[in-house]
Amino acid sequence: FQAPYPPYDPTDKKGFSYDTVVTRWPIIITSIIDEVHNVCHFLVLESQSLEDEAKKASIGERIKEGNEIVAKISKLKYEMARDRALELIHDEEPHADVYNEELKKLEEDKRNTWFTAPWLYAECYLYRLLRSYFVATTQWKDYDPFRLSKLKMFKGSKASILKIATTMHELEKTRLELEADPSKREALFNEMVQMCLWGNATDLSLLTHMTEEDIRNLQTVEKEAQAARSKFILKDDQQKVWNHLEAQNGARVDFVLDNSGFELFTDLVFADFLVTYTPHVDTVVFHPKLIPWFVSDVLPPDFTETLTLLADGPTTFTSPSPTPSSTPFDTSTEESFAHLASLVQRWQKYIDDGVFKLPVPLDTPLGGGGEKGRKAEFWTTPYPYWDMEKLDGELVKDLKESGLVIFKGDLNYRKLTGDIKWPAWTPFNEALGPLAGAFPLLSLRTNKADVAVGVPKEVAERLDAAEEPWRVNGRYALISFVPASA
Ligand code: F6P
Ligand code: MG
Repeated sequence: FQAPYPPYDPTDKKGFSYDTVVTRWPIIITSIIDEVHNVCHFLVLESQSLEDEAKKASIGERIKEGNEIVAKISKLKYEMARDRALELIHDEEPHADVYNEELKKLEEDKRNTWFTAPWLYAECYLYRLLRSYFVATTQWKDYDPFRLSKLKMFKGSKASILKIATTMHELEKTRLELEADPSKREALFNEMVQMCLWGNATDLSLLTHMTEEDIRNLQTVEKEAQAARSKFILKDDQQKVWNHLEAQNGARVDFVLDNSGFELFTDLVFADFLVTYTPHVDTVVFHPKLIPWFVSDVLPPDFTETLTLLADGPTTFTSPSPTPSSTPFDTSTEESFAHLASLVQRWQKYIDDGVFKLPVPLDTPLGGGGEKGRKAEFWTTPYPYWDMEKLDGELVKDLKESGLVIFKGDLNYRKLTGDIKWPAWTPFNEALGPLAGAFPLLSLRTNKADVAVGVPKEVAERLDAAEEPWRVNGRYALISFVPASA
């Protein structure tokens, strides 16, 4: 599919992609260097106290490989700042060829450097390239350099998580009312959609220009806060999605996941609501990534770890944590922890019974481990989703079985729309290209990149003329739905 406009790239110095190459990527890259460097430092200390020669040698090898990773990433940072060419990827993991072929095309076009390549391609390439540095080792293949930052952020979400857990507990008391009254279900559905939408504000790759305090404010789940934020929803298809879901009975819903931690928690709560309190949905499939991706995206081990951590809330959220949330808790907090534990128990049962599932086994290793991870491989390609049918026909065939496919977050939105310079009032289904109508599709996205569609012309023009960077500051959002074509 050929879009009628070009994609965003950093040649436009006013765009967010220029800002990303100049500021955001170097910060993210430096954080990986620090992380690996730290691990190596502790390994050195550990090996000094060891007697066992074999163990010492093994740790020595890990330190050596860690230093090699640091050297490669430092070189990458140097070359990026000097607008050097992107290098080919050499490893056996999925899609090396896909990235390299595209890179050759860009080279012919003289757009194969960090400041000239299309932003969507270059950013996906960056995470795939970083992965290749870890794959080249023997002892760091399973290492996720973002795991600790994901955990830290998750622990900082305690207040909102407990609040939501108690809300879900209270919901149980209204079960009969909900069963009897579809309008109550609809009102609740809208609250769930918005909670799940704003859950997307918790994205670690955005922490480079938002404070943790900013993000905590966006996580606030009280009704009034939600109402105050609703004026920032620039396209709102909630009613259409509800009408669509209400007509289903026992359907499957898919989440193409975005970030781990708080956002994943809100996805699970939304899924739980659909399955437990409506007759419309009986299965939910969660699609994770297979390699460390855009800092905070969900990997299969994150999914498992999130459930384990939630199940033991008091330990998770009061263990020494670098965030201000680690204060002693009162009785109401204790009750909320109990509510959280029983909620997670229900989720665990849903997993055991196949009501909640992943398309790949939960123990799929990073990189996918060959056939094991095949059904999740597509999500770490650099492709716009309008070519999904051509590139992974099996995946489209599978998603056609779904009653609703929910794409979470900003990157999924960029891929849905091809990260193209569409006028903001382009209809959403037009920007989806040939994917429109393939299956019922809902995108829940807080705006963190320049591309936006489906916004009324006068609203977009007014916002573009104002000072506030509404396209990228994470405070505005879009709820976009397209049904399957008949
Ligand atoms: O850096 C590019 C980008 O897509 C941003 O626009 C956004 O901050 C981040 O990566 C990913 O956001 P999300 O986790 O919502 O996909
Ligand atoms: Mg993300």
